[in-house]
Amino acid sequence: MKKIEWLPQFETGVEEIDTDHRYLFEILQEIYEAIEKSAYDLCATLANKFIEKLSEHFRTEEAFLDRIGYSDVEGHREHHTSVMTRARQLEQACKNNEPAKVAECYAVGVAIMLDEVVRGDSGFKSYLDHHGFSRPMRSAVR
Ligand SMILES: [Fe+2]
Ligand SMILES: [Fe+2]
Repeated sequence: MKKIEWLPQFETGVEEIDTDHRYLFEILQEIYEAIEKSAYDLCATLANKFIEKLSEHFRTEEAFLDRIGYSDVEGHREHHTSVMTRARQLEQACKNNEPAKVAECYAVGVAIMLDEVVRGDSGFKSYLDHHGFSRPMRSAVR
């Protein structure tokens, strides 16, 4: 098991999205640290926090994509729905205090996050770059 790290290539260039993504990574890092300290109750609490923040992030990101007129908002919404279904299943698994289950909880959380940031959001990244919505021109959508 390895601690998840934020990488510059995860940046979309849109501050509100990147801030959310970074925060979600931080929660996963806190879960990792809680596992190291065998603080399993804390893991369950953090897993809930992760899922709630993820759900909020999806709403923010979809509103942003609507606002800029992204051509495949519906496709991305579907991607979010499938990620959220996985995350809700994770919520149950994370309530378990067995070390192996908690480690699995963290691993699935990481997979969900990478699925969102690397696979999902990279889909609209080129659109943002092409249409000038990523930094430094993000003020254009404010
Ligand atoms: Fe995202
Ligand atoms: Fe997304």
